[in-house]
Amino acid sequence: WRRTHYSKEVVAEMNEQEVVLMGWVHSIRALGKLAFVILRDREGTIQLVVPKQKVSEETFEIAKKLGKEDVVAVKGKVVASEKAPNGFEIIPIEIRVLTKSNAPLPLDPAEKVPADIDTRLDHRFLDIRRPKIQALFKIRAEMLKSVRNTFNDNGFIEVNTPKLVASATEGGTELFPISYFEKEAFLGQSPQLYKQMMMAGGFDRVFEIAQIFRAEEHNTRRHLNEAVSIDMEMSFSDEYDAMDILEKVVYNSYKDIAENRADEIETLGINFEVPDKKFTKLTYSEAVDIANGKGVELEWGEDLSRAAEKAVGDEMGGLYFITEWPTITRPFYTMPYEKDNKICKAFDLMYKELEITSGAQRVHKYDLLVENISKMGMNPEGFGTYLEAFEYGMPPHAGFGLGADRFAMILGQEENIRECVLFPRDRQRLTP
Ligand code: 4AD
Repeated sequence: WRRTHYSKEVVAEMNEQEVVLMGWVHSIRALGKLAFVILRDREGTIQLVVPKQKVSEETFEIAKKLGKEDVVAVKGKVVASEKAPNGFEIIPIEIRVLTKSNAPLPLDPAEKVPADIDTRLDHRFLDIRRPKIQALFKIRAEMLKSVRNTFNDNGFIEVNTPKLVASATEGGTELFPISYFEKEAFLGQSPQLYKQMMMAGGFDRVFEIAQIFRAEEHNTRRHLNEAVSIDMEMSFSDEYDAMDILEKVVYNSYKDIAENRADEIETLGINFEVPDKKFTKLTYSEAVDIANGKGVELEWGEDLSRAAEKAVGDEMGGLYFITEWPTITRPFYTMPYEKDNKICKAFDLMYKELEITSGAQRVHKYDLLVENISKMGMNPEGFGTYLEAFEYGMPPHAGFGLGADRFAMILGQEENIRECVLFPRDRQRLTP
């Protein structure tokens, strides 16, 4: 047999037509001479009605003995019926059990009230059979597709850079050391230095969607130890050019999801609104004023605390940029302003209190870069050929890193980042 339709492709207009469906037994109800089986596949659920009088004895016996999560193939007839949920039912001609499921289930995908998140993540393969979770991951996939389209449409080249690296990029902490033959090595925190070397290499505009690794000690609802970053870098550009592209990337993702994933939005039961094409820009100093005004103590020059982010997020709502950061709060590769080098050309994109992107115009001048590296207590010699790339013609450039998991979180309106990652990695969790 070959599958002819997914559940959601069957409609009442197909009355009398024969179909072959494949999937899992979502639920079963047997009432003496009649059995109801809900079959689930990737696209949804469909009801099989099995009346003893209308099917073969063998088919009725098989139907009666079905258990939850058995994998079945069903050849059946579509019968239009006004009483049935979608105006039709499927009367099986033959049912084949492809694999039996053990019982009881550690987690029942048909359960109305889901188990707690740890139980669900422990049995993630069962959890992701739930229509709600499938909807979240379809929305995430639509976002990634949209992001790729936007980059491609704007002249970006997709690249892949190493994740086994010799040094830190985002400051000395938060690195995972690994054993790499005779050498010291780490899991990559960010493609930052490679993106910049691509600029020296004349690629002009690049993007990468890949894993980043951060040895975050703390367990929060927005941090993972393995995350996916949507990174880009563009030459002959400043931080405003980077923000323009980011607005396009984010806006188009919302628009494409609204257009192509209406069913999934309905399954999630969320109120999904496409934002304006342009996002408000707030300077860091204005953000500090807002926080101070709400009683949060914060000195100019400190990174925004959780309390400050909350205060500013409550005030701003939705998507907004924070620009003109104090230079000391940002990594060594961030370009300071010529007029006042205490502030730099960095920005964050926030969604309420959650940072989803950080970006900046970068330092492209060799001497300034070496000075910054030394000032931040690092040894320029440790940077090898990264620094060499600045000696032989580095164009001015800018870029950003957008957290894909955090973006998925706000698109799906989830409170916990783990919900939006298939197999999340945190301080406690390394399996499955
Ligand atoms: O702010 P981050 O650390 O910036 C960089 O890596 C820069 N090299 C990017 C740039 O081009 N300037 O990380 C960028 C984004 C964050 O805004 C966040 O969304 C996500 O990556 N991110 C994490 N998401 C989940 N868990 C973590 N531990 C994350 N660390 C960063």
